[in-house]
Amino acid sequence: MEQSRTLSGRSRFTAIFGDPVEHSLSPAMHNAAYAGLAMDRAYLAFHVTPDRLRDAIRAIPALGLLGVNLTVPHKQRAARMMARLSDEARILGAINCVVNREGVLSGDNTDARGLEADLREAGLELEAKLAVIIGAGGAAAAAVLAALRLGAGRIAIGNRTRARAQALARRFARHITARGKDRARATITTCGLDTLTRPDLLAQAALVVNATSIGLQGGGFIPLDYAATSDDCLFYDLIYAREPTPFLQSAAARGRRALDGAGMLAEQGELAFELFNGTPPPPGAMRTALLAALGRA
Ligand code: ATR
Repeated sequence: MEQSRTLSGRSRFTAIFGDPVEHSLSPAMHNAAYAGLAMDRAYLAFHVTPDRLRDAIRAIPALGLLGVNLTVPHKQRAARMMARLSDEARILGAINCVVNREGVLSGDNTDARGLEADLREAGLELEAKLAVIIGAGGAAAAAVLAALRLGAGRIAIGNRTRARAQALARRFARHITARGKDRARATITTCGLDTLTRPDLLAQAALVVNATSIGLQGGGFIPLDYAATSDDCLFYDLIYAREPTPFLQSAAARGRRALDGAGMLAEQGELAFELFNGTPPPPGAMRTALLAALGRA
């Protein structure tokens, strides 16, 4: 946990901008890492509404903030306000990190790398297998990229609004073609949510990701044929909460492995910390702080 530290005129700052931002667990994670490294730095949370986003981004060089995380609802719009964008930010069309390098703002996105790292840590073997991604927004885009990086042979995007799933698939089809022969093996298909109630698709899945916002406000998940999945199929919910989400509860009830997005949050935070500060956080410090904040330590 964070220890008390004294800030001075020499202290430097990083931050998160969001609306809402009060419940963000990023300050707990980043400040635990600063404390662990005894760095004279602190991570702050700013409530930035969409109408003030441009002003807030302009303030980053003016205030000398080292780096800023972006969360809901700023990730897409902020990407268009950067002087530079990483390849990953371009592919995802969204940023979760702004890095201030001597006044020049670069946008990056550590969400897909964070998910990929957490899935690797869970020992997932996706080589040439099927990943089912439910959802077609920004979170789903990060999940598709992570699945591609893990070597999925096929990715099925299931979404309520089929046209959005198709648009996401087209975006990645261009990426796959552009990025060389090793990734050209992955095929991306789309389906409606009703397909997920039938056994044919899910029976082949090695990974099923919830990248929708269903479960955030309570209530049940859409019907899925959990029983059709293989015993070693991994269910991953990008949402994290104190209690298992309905999507994960149902998977665990059938004996399947079920992980929520806390691990991804910790991993993307570690990557952001290194981008902002030029040094990695102490191993495990951010994950430990996050689990403590979630009441799971
Ligand atoms: P983010 O950028 O965080 O992914 P988003 O772009 O708002 O957020 O996407 C939310 C996702 O959750 C979408 O896939 C949305 O489906 P639609 O594209 O059909 O809107 C999905 N979603 C949200 N509420 C849903 C619900 N009640 N039933 C089914 N899908 C839902």
